[in-house]
Amino acid sequence: MKRIIITTSFVAIAACFVAPATVSAEEGLGNVDRGRVIYQFGKGDDVPACQGCHAADGLGDDNVGTPRLAYQIDTYVLKQLADFASGARTDDTMYQMNDIGKALSEQDMKDVASYVHTLKTPYIGSNLDQLRRDGAEVGDPAKGKMIAEYGAPDHGVPACESCHGFHGRSAGRMYPAVGGQNYVYLQHELTSFRNAANEFGSKTLTAEEIASKADNARTNDYMGQMRAVAKNLTDEDIQNLAAFLTLAKPTTPGNPRSPSRD
Ligand code: HEC
Ligand code: HEC
Repeated sequence: MKRIIITTSFVAIAACFVAPATVSAEEGLGNVDRGRVIYQFGKGDDVPACQGCHAADGLGDDNVGTPRLAYQIDTYVLKQLADFASGARTDDTMYQMNDIGKALSEQDMKDVASYVHTLKTPYIGSNLDQLRRDGAEVGDPAKGKMIAEYGAPDHGVPACESCHGFHGRSAGRMYPAVGGQNYVYLQHELTSFRNAANEFGSKTLTAEEIASKADNARTNDYMGQMRAVAKNLTDEDIQNLAAFLTLAKPTTPGNPRSPSRD
């Protein structure tokens, strides 16, 4: 009985979350054409063009620490924009995403999330040789692959692919694509989840706790899932995982959508 109630309410929430307000030519959360205008030109005085930092093709840029957005799960992108707007997630890299999130309407967020999902930019990944030449500590992809596939049971790290799918290609609405993501960004996020785990554990935070959290501590993961994963990662694990994931190419083109969306 209890299980039926939980399932029903989950379906209700999920249905509410994906209900398209505006259905455009490309079916999705929002209007792709409106999203493209925001992405390329920004909006008013408060929203600069997204492509200025995330690149026209949505590839992001290791030099400024921006993530790849191309073909990312639209519901995940929408959640991040809403979390930046509410302050549940802090952008401590360039200190811009919080202001940008606040200046976007909910419809803008849906439109731009839909647009970036349509960008079919090939998975290139970071140039690890260039990063090494620039003095970055770059890990060993082969060691990262072992953790992504099997975890590191000797120190309590689960397999990434159990939630993020093969080669980190994402698994439905909640689990973002991490394969093909940029090295600098991956390293930064994993470190941020680990910092947050050390500071707050995996509990859901109150508004006061969110406001007090240190920079570079990411706490917007539902039920502390990523904090629980990251808390036992060593610096070396993080470098190895980032090196593997940035080069990992999803074998199916792009992200699988959860069956109910197709
Ligand atoms: C001034 C540079 C800058 C601009 C302009 C910018 N971003 Fe960002 N964005 C960033 C940085 C830096 C991060 C990484 C923040 C962090 O490390 O937490 C980021 C992160 C994000 C994320 C999180 C992605 C993920 O994988 O979790 C989303 C979504 C995003 N930006 C969307 C946008 C959109 C949409 C726009 C335009 C409306 C935009 N950004 C404009 C710099 C920028
Ligand atoms: C129990 C499920 C689970 C496991 C296992 C897991 N993750 Fe995650 N991961 C998540 C969820 C959920 C999110 C999205 C958090 C949010 O909504 O902001 C996430 C987010 C991330 C992000 C941020 C992506 C972005 O674009 O900002 C990275 C990087 C990441 N995971 C890497 C890993 C790595 C590496 C491993 C293995 C060591 C791993 N994950 C294992 C559930 C998981």
